[in-house]
Amino acid sequence: MSAEPTASGAPAAAPTAEDAATTLRCEQLCVSFTVTTPLGQQTVDAVRGVSVAVRRGRVLGIVGESGSGKSTLARSLVGLQRPTSGTVRCGELDVADRSLEMRRQLGRRVAMVFQDPRSSLNPRLSVRAVVSDPLKVHGIGTRETRAARVEQLLSDVGLPARLAGRRVRTLSGGQLQRVAIARALALEPDFIVADEPTSALDVSVQAQILNLLAELRREHQFGMLVISHDMRVMRFLCDDLVVMLAGAVVERGPAADIYAAPEHEYTRELIGATPLLGSAAATG
Ligand SMILES: Nc1ncnc2c1ncn2[C@@H]1O[C@H](COP(=O)(O)OP(=O)(O)OP(=O)(O)O)[C@@H](O)[C@H]1O
Ligand SMILES: [Mg+2]
Repeated sequence: MSAEPTASGAPAAAPTAEDAATTLRCEQLCVSFTVTTPLGQQTVDAVRGVSVAVRRGRVLGIVGESGSGKSTLARSLVGLQRPTSGTVRCGELDVADRSLEMRRQLGRRVAMVFQDPRSSLNPRLSVRAVVSDPLKVHGIGTRETRAARVEQLLSDVGLPARLAGRRVRTLSGGQLQRVAIARALALEPDFIVADEPTSALDVSVQAQILNLLAELRREHQFGMLVISHDMRVMRFLCDDLVVMLAGAVVERGPAADIYAAPEHEYTRELIGATPLLGSAAATG
């Protein structure tokens, strides 16, 4: 097997069997789209040979400008986007195997939190229906035990149990993102993939959601892959960082090392463009 991609810049040692079993990873992932333009059909190489790995208990951040392929990478890791080439694995599961059984297992092990809960959750459903849906789909529990589990999950994400009966459309953006996170936790996944989990929220709520994700990670020890173009979010949440530019990785390593000494010019630009980062880094 070739060297395991890690978020560390140092050459990676070959993974142990245990590492491989507790890792969500892609190797040499390529995703191309064919788009029809007024000038005819064109190919967009959204992801070009990317290898990343996130271990249970760690938070890996993917940062990069708009259109650099972050969401396409995330969607490939959770099985929502078919790779053009390369491999995606969750432990021993081959995500390219499109069988029903693979999807079922992947659905239990990896959950996704999207950018905008207003578009990712059905506005007509009750909070209880949204949060218990994964349990129902996987045939877990009875109506009563699921209701109890929903209450527990709501409490875990800092929401009162009385919200269970409310319609999704009546909640605030921050409350909704908490509901989305409760739903993601329902099956006790090994990994959570969060694509810009705070960028659709009011600035005042963003920090609360980031704190919540950090706390939940400490408590549940899932692995998390977080996407953002905001270096402050990354600095707060991530152990390791991957910087993407035009579909490829240009820098990777422990987040603290990258902030202290970014090697790639684009990473320096990103850090330089983040107003509070210099002073925050100095004190923390
Ligand atoms: N379904 C699709 N069909 C055609 N092109 C696509 C599709 N999805 C993504 N792309 C293209 O692939 C490239 C990468 O898109 P992607 O959404 O992964 O970027 P991103 O880094 O998540 O950007 P943003 O920060 O704006 O969310 C872009 O050029 C985008 O237009
Ligand atoms: Mg995106």
